[in-house]
Amino acid sequence: MTEVAEAVVHIDDDRFKVTEWRFAPGAETGWHRHGHDYVIVPLTDGTLSLDLPGGGKAEAQLRQGVPYSRREGVEHNVINGSATAPLAFLEVEVMDDATAHRRRATMEALMTAFNSRDLDALMACMAEDCAFHSAAGPGAEGVVHRGRAAVRAAYAAVFDTFPQAEWGKGAHHVEGDTGLSTWQFRGTTRDGAVVDVRGCDVFTFAGDLISLKDSYRKARG
Ligand code: NI
Repeated sequence: MTEVAEAVVHIDDDRFKVTEWRFAPGAETGWHRHGHDYVIVPLTDGTLSLDLPGGGKAEAQLRQGVPYSRREGVEHNVINGSATAPLAFLEVEVMDDATAHRRRATMEALMTAFNSRDLDALMACMAEDCAFHSAAGPGAEGVVHRGRAAVRAAYAAVFDTFPQAEWGKGAHHVEGDTGLSTWQFRGTTRDGAVVDVRGCDVFTFAGDLISLKDSYRKARG
């Protein structure tokens, strides 16, 4: 009968999972595929015996405190190759950033709502305490619209100014509490003037919702 290595989870949040693996002599993890990039930090010296896909085998020497990294997709069964000595290492997995994932979804929903001219859906992306700094205006920040009523009115004014408008080529990035959406705006005003420019929004997030939409557009001329 094979003995299974003991897994002790020390950290499990939306950025990192840190697991200490303790192997009695001959113990093994069982077959697994790594779903994330990871770093191994040996806590002991030791010899790992590895079962590899396709029936291959390999050995790896562990040196206490000497780390190594691997990428997502590694598949193996890991065995303590020693008949007498226990072995242990820390596995540090880099998790998908769940918060950034949800915030990107908010940015996509906002662009979809602009394209479908849906004010309720737009406001569903905005935080309770929100602001919109428009691309053009007399001040350094364009025009500042603060509070849900003012932001909603400003979004309605965009639709009023551009009876036809399309936000395309959307790309969305999140870093910390800041989001960046780039896009191409194509709109026609009531007078028939066409605006066709690249632009971006710099967002500030509060939780999964947008507390500030700060807009920038290229100026042709
Ligand atoms: Ni593994």
